[in-house]
Amino acid sequence: MLNRITNINEIIERGSLPRHIAIIMDGNGRWARKRLMPRTMGHRAGMGSLKEVVKACDELKISVLTVYAFSTENWKRPDSEVQFLMKLLVEFLHKELNELHENDVRIKIIGDYSVLNQECQDEIRRALATTCNNQGLLFNIALNYGARAEMVEAIKKIVDGVISGEISRDSICENTVASFLYTGGVPDPDLLIRTAGELRLSNFLLWQLAYTELWVTTRLWPDFTREDLFAAIRDYQQRDRRFGALTDLEKDDKSV
Ligand code: IPE
Ligand code: IPE
Ligand code: MG
Repeated sequence: MLNRITNINEIIERGSLPRHIAIIMDGNGRWARKRLMPRTMGHRAGMGSLKEVVKACDELKISVLTVYAFSTENWKRPDSEVQFLMKLLVEFLHKELNELHENDVRIKIIGDYSVLNQECQDEIRRALATTCNNQGLLFNIALNYGARAEMVEAIKKIVDGVISGEISRDSICENTVASFLYTGGVPDPDLLIRTAGELRLSNFLLWQLAYTELWVTTRLWPDFTREDLFAAIRDYQQRDRRFGALTDLEKDDKSV
């Protein structure tokens, strides 16, 4: 325990922390297969990692954590796996809500949860209502989320605004589009973590990740610990974020 707290302080002292961390929690199936277990056991084990990471982000005073829990493409999986994942989500919210609320965490869902079963929707609404005034970590759960679907919805809303006269065509800018996404008003992720080694975005936050620092590990999600999170943050702290510009040192270089 003492070692862990020291680690946290060490990270805070090393440099600026990401304000917003996004995670593609991948590799649950492979974790289970390695153990000759059904995939569902991998998903259950992954919940332990999620709890640990939320707690660590809270302790680090990270402003926003966004996790990819279920994509619009994950409906292509067998119905039994989809049902299990939904059940697991209900269970997670049910079991963790009190502790999250006590820690001042605000839960938000990004994605269309109106198509989920009634039990799921009820549990989500309860979690949202309970934590809506909390001021600590914003915990975004991407559920039935797809970045392309998100952008289509944003375009429809903007078109509606133009038709009704609330938005003028010429005033539409990048901020307008950003404000109509699920993440409207929230800073873009500074750091994206993907577990299980895949080098792709899988339709996650395509707009918001434009200038995010990427960090991929081969560690499977159920094996991911707070120490892995710290390793990602330490790596992030050494990155040179340019946003298309030059660093101060390069600007001073008169040889160009
Ligand atoms: C991530 O693990 C969880 C979800 C996508 C819901 P996977 O289930 O994709 O695990 P792998 O990629 O098959 O190992
Ligand atoms: C991305 O993982 C979605 C989530 C983690 C919820 P996938 O396992 O669905 O991604 P692909 O299919 O490997 O691209
Ligand atoms: Mg996967």
